[in-house]
Amino acid sequence: MAARKARSKCRSAPFDPTGPSAPRRTQRGPRLTLAKTHARFVCQSCGAASTRWSGRCDGCGGWNTIVEEAPRESAPGGLGTAGRRRGHKIDFASLDGPAEGAPRRACGIAEFDRVCGGGLVPGSAILIGGDPGIGKSTLLLQVAAALAAPGTSAAPACLYVSGEEAVDQLRLRARRLGLSRAPVLLAAATAVRDIAASLDTAEPPGIVVIDSIQTMFVDSLDSAPGTVSQVRASAQELIRLAKRRGFTVLLVGHVTKDGQIAGPKVLEHMVDAVLSFEGERGHQFRILRATKNRYGATDEIGVFEMTDGGLMEVPNPSALFLAERRGNVSGSAVFAGLEGTRPVLVEVQALVSPSSLATPRRAVIGWDAGRLAMVLAVLEARCGLALAGREVYLNVAGGLRIGEPAADLAVAAALVSAASDRPVPAETVVFGEIGLSGEVRAVSQTEVRLKEAAKLGFTRALVPPRRARPGEKGGRKRDGGGRDGGLEIQEIAHLQDLVARFAADGPPRIGRRAGGGG
Ligand code: TYD
Ligand code: MG
Repeated sequence: MAARKARSKCRSAPFDPTGPSAPRRTQRGPRLTLAKTHARFVCQSCGAASTRWSGRCDGCGGWNTIVEEAPRESAPGGLGTAGRRRGHKIDFASLDGPAEGAPRRACGIAEFDRVCGGGLVPGSAILIGGDPGIGKSTLLLQVAAALAAPGTSAAPACLYVSGEEAVDQLRLRARRLGLSRAPVLLAAATAVRDIAASLDTAEPPGIVVIDSIQTMFVDSLDSAPGTVSQVRASAQELIRLAKRRGFTVLLVGHVTKDGQIAGPKVLEHMVDAVLSFEGERGHQFRILRATKNRYGATDEIGVFEMTDGGLMEVPNPSALFLAERRGNVSGSAVFAGLEGTRPVLVEVQALVSPSSLATPRRAVIGWDAGRLAMVLAVLEARCGLALAGREVYLNVAGGLRIGEPAADLAVAAALVSAASDRPVPAETVVFGEIGLSGEVRAVSQTEVRLKEAAKLGFTRALVPPRRARPGEKGGRKRDGGGRDGGLEIQEIAHLQDLVARFAADGPPRIGRRAGGGG
């Protein structure tokens, strides 16, 4: 009745865009259009939602995985006004108030601690994803054992709950890792209710590993373990408990065929950090990468080597990635990259071969295929390199995945070198971003990259043109070259400059700003 009265009042009021009622009207508009509700059909294996049921999920390709779920909110009713509880006032605080919080717990495995942002934060939840058999359980057992080491003062109690392996199997692994004597407590359990009851004690543990979240189940739900609703509910219970009792929970998450953490994306939103453990099966290198971190930088990597005795830290990954490089072969360029805060040198390999196919193959390992297509198009359109009818293969040696655009120039160098069958000059590192007109753009942290290259014995660098900084001693030379930290610097302003270096003889086709060579 009251509502009708209000509506009629509203209708009778003349519309005045400048009047006091104007803003209220504009707020109401979208509310009316949102009121329609739709059923949601959610894939129970990947979490993809659609408006129709179908037998096969478009997201993950799974059959018979789609189930209708009630819409989360039937109507976006908002808070309303009439007859509702008034909210309590919340207190706002200033930024510089005292920030309490227990100190981070560093486990002493430097590669792991760095990725976590300097150690594990009490009361936080970390999700670790990775392919099966990549070494997630091994890593977490090693981390738990390192944290529980009796030598460290106030070592937290570390619990390892496995839903995948029996206690005996975990013991066997610990023996293999030489950690049998570490005071880590093991359990094989999958019922979240039991786990929560065991953790919610007077003396809560410091670290809890849940291996894996897909095996856990909450008994109040009907669906099977591993389904979206179970994964979501189990994670929610465990994370809530971790926050309340102040322990760190490390959740192992499976990944789907295309590398996503299986289960709902919401799992990634619920945790404080998402780490992915990557690596090629055939290689012994494993890379731990933070893709989300509320308590530290993302894009930090930790490099490990899988050995007979478990995962070993690799403090100098560049040396490892370049270990099998053979000099003086065409199609190989060394990229001076940056992973988080640390410089990493990797070899980029390219192969360009004639093709009998109408659509020649393009295959990439360790780099973005779209980015490769762009570099190929720029080489073709701006530098006249004929690559359209040839097969192109690109590989980042050592199993590292590069995400930086700074690798463009190194990829281009490897491609041009492969196409012209002339090696990139010996002991040369390359980095720079390529624009669509073929210009080479500056990248961040040039000095750090050059320093790492010099440290590993490189003598030359092909880099983007560098701007003289105002404070710099005497300014930077603008002749396209110079020396820096023992390296001979050759600036490449345009991709054509790079191509000209590999041209059989003949002068370059455009005036080059970079120094001689090639
Ligand atoms: P695991 O930690 O079980 O992988 P995930 O939990 O990610 O599935 O690691 C299994 C692989 O690691 C297995 O293929 C054997 C290998 N491995 C070693 O090479 N050395 C070792 O010391 C251990 C424990 C495992
Ligand atoms: Mg495992």
